[in-house]
Amino acid sequence: MTAALYDITDPALAGRGVTRIEWALREMPVMRRLMAQFSEHRPLGGARVSGCLHITSETANLARVLVAGGARVVLCASNPLSTQDDVAAALVTNFDIPVFARRGESTEVYYQHISAALDHRPQLTMDDGADLISEMHKSRRELLDDLRGGTEETTTGVVRLRAMARDGALRVPVVAVNDAMTKHLFDNRYGTGQSTLDGIIRATNILLAGRVFTVAGYGWCGRGIAMRAKGHGANVIVTEVEPLRALEAAMDGFRVIPLLEAAAQSDFIVTATGDKHVVDRAHFEVLKDGCVLANSGHFNVEINIPVLEAMATQIRDARPHVQEYVLQDGRRVYLLAQGRLVNLSAAEGHPAAVMDMSFANQAMVLDHLWNTTARLAADVHPVPHEIDRQVARFKLDTMEIGIDALTEEQAAYLSSWREGT
Ligand code: ADE
Repeated sequence: MTAALYDITDPALAGRGVTRIEWALREMPVMRRLMAQFSEHRPLGGARVSGCLHITSETANLARVLVAGGARVVLCASNPLSTQDDVAAALVTNFDIPVFARRGESTEVYYQHISAALDHRPQLTMDDGADLISEMHKSRRELLDDLRGGTEETTTGVVRLRAMARDGALRVPVVAVNDAMTKHLFDNRYGTGQSTLDGIIRATNILLAGRVFTVAGYGWCGRGIAMRAKGHGANVIVTEVEPLRALEAAMDGFRVIPLLEAAAQSDFIVTATGDKHVVDRAHFEVLKDGCVLANSGHFNVEINIPVLEAMATQIRDARPHVQEYVLQDGRRVYLLAQGRLVNLSAAEGHPAAVMDMSFANQAMVLDHLWNTTARLAADVHPVPHEIDRQVARFKLDTMEIGIDALTEEQAAYLSSWREGT
């Protein structure tokens, strides 16, 4: 049997996908600049690249930049519910980039698609959640010899990869794109902040002003969600397990209390912790009637859905992306997007202007991995500082923001210890 060349929902959606990809590119000036540079210098000439990413219009533009740089790119989805089917169709039909992704695919098909992307025998990988790299290490080890390195887009993936490195299991270098300043300060904070609120509002159309809105986790994503919920006039509670973050949330002006206490008074609870069963049986038992539950963490494990299902006497679709669970005592709980990333499932993910920086890091790091002569150790590596600064400089340029430069005297002062009072 010959391998499928792609697997998407409907090639006929391509026209709408192209329009959407072009619309995103308008908001991605750094990527436009890289596209021109990559077309001229072809830094990825001949590289086979497999990407397991959310299949969105922004990702499409990343793939186009890599192809302009000479790479042969294959994509699969990093989440069963985030694929934009029209974008997948456009990539296959108009841009000749194989895609294995269908919105709403089963877990089984999700892994079949990862396997198909690995059949490309990647020399470079891009992950959003570490599924590609972890599948290679678990079941396709013969491919590891060809793999020069990979990139990781998200916090959860970096955590998994560090665990692999700690166990001595990681066999290739992976660059933690997530940890670049030009990634997490903007994408995780402002991107997740805006798109999570967007997903909740599109799904429910419930007024946030005056409502109690709890954010579980005060990492960069939680900070962004809490900040934007406050902007909508919600009364925001933050819950944390980490004392430094809890203190920061308190001094940022949020009420910080344990989640069990918050559960009884919240109209909304949004998880962004990266951990599992954050909202669990004990919380379901005391939830306020009508509470809306949503997740913005990478995996759909933060809300214990099997337990919620077992506790429900009735489950029905209340409206698209909203499931109503009726509990034994008659209280109703509304779960958004099956507990999957609400910003990508019920909305369109982060706006292109932040993905512009995240994906500029991706493209420049792949160039670095492909062209660096020094072989990197099998470990999790930071994005080279020069790449991070370059992305910031490019972005500032495109925003027409000028900044000052140190005088020689100031530079000398900063590098000397002799001068005091
Ligand atoms: N992750 C969050 N938002 C995204 C987007 N718009 N495209 C790709 N990955 C994302």
